[in-house]
Amino acid sequence: MAVCNSDCIATQYASRWFKHLPPHDEYFRLQCAAIPPPDPVTVTDQQIPENERLIFAMDVPDCDQAQHLAGELGDAVVFYKLGLELMMSGGYFELLDWMLERDKKVFADLKFYDIPATVGAAVRQLEHRGASFVTVHGDQSIMQAAADNKGDTLKVLVVTVLTSLDTSDLGDLGYACDVGELVLARAKLAYETGCDGVISSGLEAPKLRQHVDPGLLVVTPGIRPAGNEPTADQKRVVTVSQALQNGADYIVVGRPIRDADSPRAAAEAIQATIAAEF
Ligand code: C5P
Repeated sequence: MAVCNSDCIATQYASRWFKHLPPHDEYFRLQCAAIPPPDPVTVTDQQIPENERLIFAMDVPDCDQAQHLAGELGDAVVFYKLGLELMMSGGYFELLDWMLERDKKVFADLKFYDIPATVGAAVRQLEHRGASFVTVHGDQSIMQAAADNKGDTLKVLVVTVLTSLDTSDLGDLGYACDVGELVLARAKLAYETGCDGVISSGLEAPKLRQHVDPGLLVVTPGIRPAGNEPTADQKRVVTVSQALQNGADYIVVGRPIRDADSPRAAAEAIQATIAAEF
């Protein structure tokens, strides 16, 4: 089976192509040049019910396991992120309906990335399904297409830079910019195009709070509640309190709850930490 590593032709081609993209590079250099260092910020003042600030990333292989885990979590979790693993397992929208019937909220983390017309159409299809959030990648025109098609209830969140990437990984992708600068540039575009928020690590949240309109939602994955758990593939991690104090409106937590001896106790402990911050 062919494996795409750094030697494969597609990767070499992609990195050469990115290196020869001056407008793109230049755009981010210009965006990044004028950014002063951040001041410390306090917890967000968005009007969000406290128990909805924890979004549990339901990363399990099938819908039966998802329902079982949701039953175990009970009132400890109100907001669920249903991502690509469940989408590929079948029954995604039945699970979404099952969640809504139980007064849960759903974040459809499907990370749309395609030409603007296709992303806009996908967002339009999702809009009537009852999800609260959806994620998109992409440039200004893709963000614009998503914002133009989201309707009144679905909020569009723009992925800034995945929390599993650091500055050296960005170099591999052809971005000659540090992570914080790129996150800020993308967040500004998200706001200007009418998207509702961004996905950002807690490390970059202070910069967003200082330089982007406070109406932009900041949703932060890469949370390690005790600060000393295994980070796995995450590289830019913070604790629950750090994320909120840095300006996150919502935190996304997956494995620290899913893999805990008692997922319910882990979720309740996080809810208690959130409550103590407000
Ligand atoms: O807490 P844990 O590391 O398990 O969380 C991982 C979840 O957060 C995954 O569902 C992943 O898709 C999501 N996520 C992320 N970084 C982003 C966006 C989403 O880790 N930038």
